[in-house]
Amino acid sequence: MIVLLQVDPAGAHGTGIATDARGIAIQLTYLAAGVLFILGLRSLTRPDRAQRGMQQAALGMLLAIIGTLLHHDIVRYDWIIGGLLLGTAIGYPLGMFVPMTAMPQRIAVSHMFGALAATLVGVAEYWLLRGDVPRPIMAALGFEVLFGAITITGSFMAFGKLQGFITGTPITYRGQNATNLVLFAATVGLFAFLVFRPGTPALFYAMVACALAIGVLMVLPIGGADMPVVVSLLNSYAGLAAAATGFAIGNTVLIVCGALDGASGLLLSVLMSKAMNRSFRNVLFGAFGAAPEGGAAAAGAADRPVRATTAEDAAVQLAFSRLVVVVPGYGMAVAQCQHQVRELAGLLEKRGAEVKYAIHPVAGRMPGHMNVLLAEANVPYDRLFDLDEINDQFDHVDAVLVIGANDVVNPAARTDPASPIYGMPILNVDSARSVIVLKRSMAAGYSGVENELFYNPKTEMLFGDAKKSIETLVAEVKAL
Ligand code: TAP
Repeated sequence: MIVLLQVDPAGAHGTGIATDARGIAIQLTYLAAGVLFILGLRSLTRPDRAQRGMQQAALGMLLAIIGTLLHHDIVRYDWIIGGLLLGTAIGYPLGMFVPMTAMPQRIAVSHMFGALAATLVGVAEYWLLRGDVPRPIMAALGFEVLFGAITITGSFMAFGKLQGFITGTPITYRGQNATNLVLFAATVGLFAFLVFRPGTPALFYAMVACALAIGVLMVLPIGGADMPVVVSLLNSYAGLAAAATGFAIGNTVLIVCGALDGASGLLLSVLMSKAMNRSFRNVLFGAFGAAPEGGAAAAGAADRPVRATTAEDAAVQLAFSRLVVVVPGYGMAVAQCQHQVRELAGLLEKRGAEVKYAIHPVAGRMPGHMNVLLAEANVPYDRLFDLDEINDQFDHVDAVLVIGANDVVNPAARTDPASPIYGMPILNVDSARSVIVLKRSMAAGYSGVENELFYNPKTEMLFGDAKKSIETLVAEVKAL
């Protein structure tokens, strides 16, 4: 994006297809980049190929940058080199040092930067053309800054809610949806007017300001628990902004890349909502995560008895089980105990047990979170079972080891119509013969809802940090 700011606008609105040798080389590079992006996405559909997918996508991005740097219309390289150095200085620590548990907010920040770049390109283009913009280009520029600006502030809000410096509780007020709708309609009105009368800079900048406000207002009423869905939706907006940028400046790789981003972000948001049994409308306007009124909330939890167990007893129970199912959740990501879990599974298998892993589609805080962690610990892919594959098998399971999972095993989703998570498909671990839950306290999960499973007579709680608990279990099983 920074590179594209250096393109001479006089040449930017041509056909976009150069016919000289350099132009053909650029288009071929873009084609190769587009193919690599698609292959990368395809590889990402399987955890065991995900690493390769990332490498393919990164190579595609490198080719896209090289192709753009070859462009005829680049007038100077010094700012571009400065931009690349700055981007690397920000991107490297973001990639290397941000922990997996903070990945959703890191992704939100990346979208914010991407959208900021697209919006700046749009504003720069408009400014350079002094408002003398052909209508089709104005339509593309309008889309670009509209989606870009919404994504900048929306992603910042999502980042704030996930990081905790903005409250994760939905912020609602009277007439909120109506106000947002009016603002949105006004912004679309400005956009439509600009397509017919592009030479009105005041309205152009007013549209950008309105879109920035929409980003904030849109995310305010959405609870922290729904932020990953919002981040994914904003990802698709950033993609659409990038695709519009491609149309505005005649850059094919931006169109391809933006369209892929837009479509995959939207699909992912829909799939996540589906996995939580929530409609898109409910996620965006349902203020999910506001303090539940009485009933199923955590209130009253302290008075009820639970069965606490020791690592010694749990180890014996696991060691004499034939079929063990591990259910990882967000707590496993926090404790970073995937390697110890793998070691424990190996010990149980040596003793003749079969160990399977049950993966809920929204366990953790981002899509595929558990798959990534278990792949990192070299857990064989064929031991991982999706919710649909394993839910019927729990009747025959001797012991379920729930490691830092809570909402995804909460039977209230099946049985309590008053529960905010009612209807969300869950792992039916309460059908197993015994359940051992590893967590530090009786605290609720991300949705803030109390979990009946912890009070089930079949359930034993092994309190403590999951890593320490698993390490002790490993030592106890070895000692048997
Ligand atoms: P949660 O319901 O969030 O529960 C995680 C549990 O881990 C907590 O109850 C916590 O209890 C425990 N924990 C935290 N740190 C721990 C540690 N160091 N050692 C042991 N336990 C620890 O997690 P889940 O079951 O994975 O469910 C995910 C939630 O996120 C769902 O509500 C889902 O809808 C939401 N969500 C997920 C996604 C995606 S894509 N994954 C997207 C949107 C929303 P203690 O504090 O007592 O230890």
